[in-house]
Amino acid sequence: MNLTRLIYYSQRNPSMSLSMGELLEICKRNNSAMNVTGMLHFNGNYFLQVLEGGRAEVSSIYHRIAADQRHLNIILISCQDVRERIFPTWSMGHHEGMEGETRGIFLRYFPSNTVNPEAVSADSLLDFLQDVSTELV
Ligand SMILES: Cc1cc2nc3c(=O)[nH]c(=O)nc-3n(C[C@H](O)[C@H](O)[C@H](O)COP(=O)(O)O)c2cc1C
Repeated sequence: MNLTRLIYYSQRNPSMSLSMGELLEICKRNNSAMNVTGMLHFNGNYFLQVLEGGRAEVSSIYHRIAADQRHLNIILISCQDVRERIFPTWSMGHHEGMEGETRGIFLRYFPSNTVNPEAVSADSLLDFLQDVSTELV
């Protein structure tokens, strides 16, 4: 079973209601059951998510996510086999907001202190998610 990492970004669908608490509960439940790990950043407009796990599991979760009406304009930016996970301890880490060190992390990767996934490469987005994951407890 190959280990795969998938990264996409999307935008919130303003005509659908969204409870991040409920969404994260479902992510954690389903992802742990499938040994999928990763990180989800949400800035009020863009979602940026990385999923890691078995190829079939990541693919199945991604197809479910892609059909979800709570977001739009889903752009798949990377999906590749990897030797190891970057987020092995997060069934779905969640990052939102800009407290503490986060502003510095945003400015490291983006031209301004707002996350715009359109503005940077897939490698930078992955590095960004890795950096913000170190802020989570
Ligand atoms: C931005 C976003 C990210 C999501 N991430 C995940 C995820 O990592 N894992 C997951 O199972 N569902 C995720 N979902 C929810 C799925 O689209 C879907 O609602 C859910 O998997 C259905 O699970 P259930 O059949 O157990 O209720 C996400 C939805 C959105 C909008």
